[in-house]
Amino acid sequence: MKKTIVILGAGGHGRVVRDIALSVGYENVFFLDDSDRFDVGIKGKTKDYINYISNSDFFVAIGNNIVRERIMRMIVSDGGEMATLVHPSVVVGGNVSIGKGTVVVAGAVINNGAKIGEGVIINTCSSVDHDDIVGDYCHISVGTHLAGTVCVGQRSFICAGATISNNISVCEDCIIGAGAVVVKDITEKGTYLGVPARKVND
Ligand SMILES: CC(C)(COP(=O)(O)OP(=O)(O)OC[C@H]1O[C@@H](n2cnc3c(N)ncnc32)[C@H](O)[C@@H]1OP(=O)(O)O)[C@@H](O)C(=O)NCCC(=O)NCCS
Repeated sequence: MKKTIVILGAGGHGRVVRDIALSVGYENVFFLDDSDRFDVGIKGKTKDYINYISNSDFFVAIGNNIVRERIMRMIVSDGGEMATLVHPSVVVGGNVSIGKGTVVVAGAVINNGAKIGEGVIINTCSSVDHDDIVGDYCHISVGTHLAGTVCVGQRSFICAGATISNNISVCEDCIIGAGAVVVKDITEKGTYLGVPARKVND
């Protein structure tokens, strides 16, 4: 771990990520963002990451799963080192793996045997239970619960307060709406809402 971390994305999620980076020991935290609407001391645009490759770690704090994947891949292909950020309050069980470029926000619980991919957001007070697999670039939003032995495919967005029942798989590129409860495997990408969750569009 280097002393400096460059965070790409200076919005609300970026500020949450900055707090976590400071709490785990980074001494210097810089933001890069293509927008100038955030008043957090932005040091440059996205493309300027290249100037920090050798002396900083990186984190992409962008909520959109597709954009986050694209920017992470670009930085990694140029030799950038992605941080893994886990807030000190998070409960992490045994035999858990958490990939590079993933953030686990305050109050989350990740139980025994869970495998979390790269570039994932495990957001505030969510739970990922035993033996779950969360694919790369997913967002497990605030207050979401994945019961045991759940599998979530790459880039899927599990919205706030949703629940995935035990032994259920959700395929890649799905949106599970806020408050939805998934009780059957989802094998086609699309948006699913309600209790029980039903497909509403592609
Ligand atoms: C699933 C979601 C992304 C869909 O967004 P969208 O495509 O813009 O959908 P809209 O807001 O246009 O709503 C379309 C319809 O679905 C309904 N709807 C939207 N979200 C719903 C939900 N979670 N559950 C049930 N119905 C929902 C709306 O009431 C609307 O119904 P209507 O056509 O009868 O008026 C969004 O509704 C959602 O759940 N967002 C939560 C985001 C979130 O959790 N962010 C957390 C970041 S930590």
